[in-house]
Amino acid sequence: MFNLGILTLSDKGWRGQREDTSGKFIRDSLSSLDSRVVKYEVVPDEVDVIADKLAQWADGGGVDLILTTGGTGLGPRDVTPEATLSVVNKLSPGFAEAMRAGTLKVTPFAMLSRAVAGIRGKCLIINLPGSPQAVRECLEVILPAIPHAMGILKGEVTEHTSSDIKRD
Ligand code: MTE
Repeated sequence: MFNLGILTLSDKGWRGQREDTSGKFIRDSLSSLDSRVVKYEVVPDEVDVIADKLAQWADGGGVDLILTTGGTGLGPRDVTPEATLSVVNKLSPGFAEAMRAGTLKVTPFAMLSRAVAGIRGKCLIINLPGSPQAVRECLEVILPAIPHAMGILKGEVTEHTSSDIKRD
């Protein structure tokens, strides 16, 4: 069992002008894993607000995985990767690499996301793009690796056992 935080970055969502479909989609998708949502918030695209929230959740000790959605693009207000990079101690580039490479065959727009992933303490933070469609495509790529990643971070998996790792 691991604890999940969902942080949606959206100026419009924060002002109540847009429904947070992507955040809800993340919640539904993760329900198939052995997880529970312990934090959920919609915040504006402000680098300090996002960084503070990520650090607070990670340092509180109760969140093992934070999935952010939105703010990863090329627009002037897209600052989620910068906020994430400012709070992580270690990078975990494979998640973002996999999302971009794995979904590029579906849409060339996959390369427009600047999403990053990293670890703060024992909490893994992964950026997802903002649209529900992008979230669906990216989660499909990374979800198979999440339980194993959680096991390692929580110290429950001590060896590189391969029996529980999905292979085609
Ligand atoms: N990745 C996938 N798999 N599918 C998508 O539809 N949309 C892209 C990209 N990544 C997309 C995707 C687009 S159009 C943008 S602008 C960027 O994600 C950034 O989105 P964001 O600013 O909402 O995070």
